[in-house]
Amino acid sequence: MRIFISSLLILVSLNTNAAFGDWGKTGHRATGAIAAKHLTRRTQRAICKLLNGQSLALVSIYADEIKSDVQYKKYGPWHYVNYSLDKKYGEESPNEKGDLVQGIQKCITVLRDDTSSDVDKVFYLKMLVHLVGDLHQPLHVGRSEDKGGNAIQVKWFRDGSNLHRVWDSDMLDYYKMSYSELSENTKRMTKTEMEKIKKGTVLDWIEESQDLAKEVYASASTGEKLSYAYAYKYIPVVREQLQKGGIRLAKILNNIF
Ligand code: ADE
Ligand code: ZN
Ligand code: ZN
Repeated sequence: MRIFISSLLILVSLNTNAAFGDWGKTGHRATGAIAAKHLTRRTQRAICKLLNGQSLALVSIYADEIKSDVQYKKYGPWHYVNYSLDKKYGEESPNEKGDLVQGIQKCITVLRDDTSSDVDKVFYLKMLVHLVGDLHQPLHVGRSEDKGGNAIQVKWFRDGSNLHRVWDSDMLDYYKMSYSELSENTKRMTKTEMEKIKKGTVLDWIEESQDLAKEVYASASTGEKLSYAYAYKYIPVVREQLQKGGIRLAKILNNIF
């Protein structure tokens, strides 16, 4: 009985932790680990020094960890950006409390500034690793009405979930690949394919995620049960997003350092 109750408590806490999250830990770590494979020697050295040898995978979930500390509450809106699917970023006035785009810009600005303290550089570097991951979760560039799909209840196999959470973590949990397995089993790419992914700016990538978000919104309706067929169709998309996130994070970092 004791064991039953404590496992029940664990299940309940797992569920609440996942609410309003991000790419689960696996997704963020995979993005960090993939980025690490694409850094120049010079960037590797600079980052290793700042992070005192910690890997990008390790620091990738720092931005989620600080959410439980009121001192860092103001960074909450940085994890996503919501605006109409038929608009481009900036056509509606951006959230004055900040958003994913402003957050990434701030990180880059601090890291590029020679007068920034090392403490600040470390903080914004950790934030950047995380936010470029979030940028590639399509529903982090979603609609405000449904909070990026958080308000669209669906079933994931037998369990209650929502569309946002299916994309954050349900699919990756179902897939059962560790972050290092994900990062070691990315799609082989030609130089041309790599260049195509690296091309563009943060705003171009936001637009690309919004395009994907439109497809994701159309992929399921409220109350629908999503299972094998959904996983089969969209896990390759999730994996591609993680790979793009890693490659683009490395591009940003190589440009900074
Ligand atoms: N909260 C509100 N909108 C969100 C979104 N698009 N992603 C994550 N959390 C959110
Ligand atoms: Zn999320
Ligand atoms: Zn996040």
